[in-house]
Amino acid sequence: MNSTVKPKISGKYDFVVVSNRLPVDRVIEADGSASWARSPGGLVTALEPVMRQNDGAWIGWGGQPDLEFTPFESEGIHVVPVALSAADLKYYYEGFSNDTLWPLYHDVIAPPSFHREWWESYVEVNQRFADAAAAAASPGGVVWVQDYQLQLVPKLLREIRPDLTIGFFNHIPFPPYGIYSQLPWRTQIIEGLLGADVIGFQRVADASNFQRAVRRLKGYVTKGSQVEVPLVDMSPGVRVFGEIKRQGSFRTVVARAFPISIDASSFEELARTPAIQERAKQIREELGSPKTIMLGVDRLDYTKGIGHRLKAYGELLAEGKLSSEDVTLVQVANPSRERVQAYIELRDEIELTVGRINGDYGTIAHVPISYQHHGFPREEMVALYLAADVMLVTALRDGMNLVAKEYVACRFDDDGVLVLSEFAGASDELKRALLINPHDIDGMKEKIMEAIGMPKRDRAARMRSMRKRVLEHDVSRWSADFLKVLESRAHHGSQGHLL
Ligand code: G6P
Repeated sequence: MNSTVKPKISGKYDFVVVSNRLPVDRVIEADGSASWARSPGGLVTALEPVMRQNDGAWIGWGGQPDLEFTPFESEGIHVVPVALSAADLKYYYEGFSNDTLWPLYHDVIAPPSFHREWWESYVEVNQRFADAAAAAASPGGVVWVQDYQLQLVPKLLREIRPDLTIGFFNHIPFPPYGIYSQLPWRTQIIEGLLGADVIGFQRVADASNFQRAVRRLKGYVTKGSQVEVPLVDMSPGVRVFGEIKRQGSFRTVVARAFPISIDASSFEELARTPAIQERAKQIREELGSPKTIMLGVDRLDYTKGIGHRLKAYGELLAEGKLSSEDVTLVQVANPSRERVQAYIELRDEIELTVGRINGDYGTIAHVPISYQHHGFPREEMVALYLAADVMLVTALRDGMNLVAKEYVACRFDDDGVLVLSEFAGASDELKRALLINPHDIDGMKEKIMEAIGMPKRDRAARMRSMRKRVLEHDVSRWSADFLKVLESRAHHGSQGHLL
């Protein structure tokens, strides 16, 4: 991507990404000084390289309330900030996005809250993002909307700009109908998404869940990955399809899986850097040179199964199967959504457990858990991946889990064992990981012991096969696959006739 903006007819962008968060967050220091820093989460990790390759605009929120900014360039990306007020943060972001949709879409691990004021704010903020996208996109341009915070944008945007080709990608799971149907606004969300030409999901199961919701709530026909959306609108539940089919035409919307990935070669490149390898050795020494280093890297979120992981590890220490002399677990827990009650409680719970385990099983020289409640620069993360003999990904539900893929991408030495939850999307691809059900604590303990004791030959065979998958199916392939399908809708049109 060029760092300067190319002049365009109408001064707008042919390619626009819209996501709740920009790739950069406004950080205000204690002394009042402000700067921009990289945003957390898998979405930004995946999309950043895509944006660098495409000369487009990225529309999103800067991570602080009431931030009014004129568009600017950030490391080659044209950034268009959308302002959110303190009330928007409370109702749209912390409320509807992260206390209604997030728990609902992750199998109700935490109970979702349903509040009408939150929904109203969600509608209002989605309209603001749709307006910003409509203003940024060139005639006939492509707009790619991201994630659960913006599910109404495809429909709202199509209403303003029917000339655009609109894609949507859901980074988190789409729940089974029995759970989804709890949502009081379930039909409006389906209608919002169906404003897109292509709707992408992480797993095949997510796409099927969505299609089932479309059939149940709208009565539309789905065929393979295609949904037929009548151009004459029907109220939900009105069984008059035959009549409408005879009279009218429909749009075809593609809804299928496009599993997201990472910029795998850039991780491998960093891992091959001598300074980072040196740092990995130093980390082992700093931890007191344990025989085994285990690693967990997560946003501090109840979906990640950190508590289940600690329970299994704590029991292994209690039973004397592991000792803090031999094993250290490094747990990186990135602070997240710190004003939402479920996250406040989770932090207390995890930190209490970490303190207990360290207090019960630690010695003056060795602590069983090195707990880090902050993020690290990418170089340090890569050094940690290289130092880790066993990587623990124990999510109770996760759209994909890019940390699992990052670990694999870094292990150019074909070493290291990945213990991976079958409830993370990554398990569809990384079948040679040691797959676990995190609810089954005994099963998880067995797999942890198997990982620690796995012979080198087995480790290498498993890692080689996983590396092949991750390096071949990287993020540029993900976006190219999605955009190819999206562009084919633009060229051939997504309209068809049932007759
Ligand atoms: C997940 C979501 C992203 C989100 C990220 C960080 O990866 O899919 O949409 O940006 O978490 O969460 P936050 O609430 O801090 O944006």
